[in-house]
Amino acid sequence: MKRNIFPHLALAFFTLLTSISCKNPYTDVVNHEKDYRIVPRPVKLTPASGRLVFKNEVLIVADAEAMAEAEYLRALLAELLPGTAVKLRATADNSPGTILLRILEDPDGAEESYKLHVNAEFAEITANTSKGIFYGIQSLRQLLALPGSMEEIPYASIPAVSMEDTPRFAYRGMHLDVARHFQPVSFVKKYIDLLAMHKLNTFHWHLTEDQGWRIEIKKYPKLTEIGAWRNGTVEGKLPWTNNDNVRYGGFYTQEEVREVVAYAAARHITIIPEIELPGHSSAAIASYPQLSCFPEEPTTPNRGVLSEKSKELQANGQVKLVYEEWGVTDDVYCAGKESTFEFITGVLDEVVELFPSAYIHIGGDECPKGNWERCAQCQNRMKEEGLSDAHELQSYFIERVEAYLNTKGRNIIGWDEILEGGLAPNATVMYWRSWDEHKAVITAASEGHDVIMTPNSHFYFDHYQADPDTEPDAICCLSSVEKVYHYDPVPEVITKMGLEDRIVGAQANVWTEYMKSLDYVEYMLLPRLSALSEVLWTPESKKDYENFVFRLEAMRELYDKHGYHYAKHVFETTSVKSE
Ligand code: ACM
Ligand code: ZN
Repeated sequence: MKRNIFPHLALAFFTLLTSISCKNPYTDVVNHEKDYRIVPRPVKLTPASGRLVFKNEVLIVADAEAMAEAEYLRALLAELLPGTAVKLRATADNSPGTILLRILEDPDGAEESYKLHVNAEFAEITANTSKGIFYGIQSLRQLLALPGSMEEIPYASIPAVSMEDTPRFAYRGMHLDVARHFQPVSFVKKYIDLLAMHKLNTFHWHLTEDQGWRIEIKKYPKLTEIGAWRNGTVEGKLPWTNNDNVRYGGFYTQEEVREVVAYAAARHITIIPEIELPGHSSAAIASYPQLSCFPEEPTTPNRGVLSEKSKELQANGQVKLVYEEWGVTDDVYCAGKESTFEFITGVLDEVVELFPSAYIHIGGDECPKGNWERCAQCQNRMKEEGLSDAHELQSYFIERVEAYLNTKGRNIIGWDEILEGGLAPNATVMYWRSWDEHKAVITAASEGHDVIMTPNSHFYFDHYQADPDTEPDAICCLSSVEKVYHYDPVPEVITKMGLEDRIVGAQANVWTEYMKSLDYVEYMLLPRLSALSEVLWTPESKKDYENFVFRLEAMRELYDKHGYHYAKHVFETTSVKSE
């Protein structure tokens, strides 16, 4: 249940600014780099003395190309500084407290770099592109969350500073599984806001699964009439014995998808949709049973924990069902039937119309090959195509889909299983099976493919973040904030091989089997997302965990101001002190 905390926050913020006392856990003087508490840590930050004080009004002056970012900043300030008038203009008039947003065409400047300069008169963000301006705004926003100095200033103010900043990785991603548990558009937007706050640029939207199909496809309406709903869900953790017998589901209409894509684009975030194939497809098969090698065979949960409704339906001849257990099921798309590919291309035709991203994620993970081994049509396909095993059949499947998407001007990303049986020619590999000691990364990178690091060992935010005995149910394992922070996406072996440029970035994944509530999704995300942002943005040489935890206190102010739920362990175990 969400509280409306803004009235309280406004009061708290005012109190903080006006009654600064020795109890203030923050530093009195802002003269060390870390005292600015920017997360992710910027490449270069030079402290300066003095403060820019915003009296009763803030004026934003922006170049035409940065007007959308100015509007974004205006909305942000209205939220952060209630009671302060925020005006927007195209030209400066020497008003004190002006924030200038300037596009400076610098042929050497990177697309996402920015400079932020604050003195007692004005704040200026300059960048080569509006994207850089946007990241400068995120840093400025964090300065606003810092409490004021020891002087009594009854106004919002920010400390003077000079920053020059640019990200380490081009791909800075965060994933969300909306299939195991569905999250409404309002939540997805909130999630995107968090990504923006942390200077991430990619949202990987995991839209289809065994347990639910979540995107409207007009050509195949049963995907959401049938595939978006399951008749029940297993309760608790393995070994499951109970089904809750509660119908569960939801989906996004195409109109909603467009709205979310535009919302993300305004925050310089690209959405990469994931349409899983050939495995994790039982919701699609429940909708269109002919997609299976064996349309007459009933969906059989591995542990046999089926809802009463599903048992009744199966008894009456409706054998294919949206999966109600977690895990992997044998019933996957038939690779032998042409009609499977007609279906997939029909789906992708609509997906590419909705998502302008250069990449479409096609899944590719955890596809059991048992059905293909005993399916005459799959065997026939293998013979015709000269494929020696089922892994090569999976490769055939992926390559066909890749070739189709390439004709639409798109490239594919797939989980690292797409390497097995031969990698599709232009594919980017998303590395997750980190127990293989980087074998998949080495193979993909040495074959000239781009790799995105999402190691299960560190970047699975469905893992516990503290002692499981003290935490709500999570799937397994432990990925503390500190563990996330210390991960370097470029493995030593890759650097030794001179292949580091193949690592285009990294991402963390939020699988939602055990995340029934939106608050819990936020809790599992924060503050690990803050640690991830520093892995993605900050040069490895500038990473310092203790320093990060110190700076994280200001990010926590923003979590609180915006009403996010977060795990508090890291704040409880570390004392906050300045140098
Ligand atoms: C995955 O976790 N199956 C990509
Ligand atoms: Zn088949």
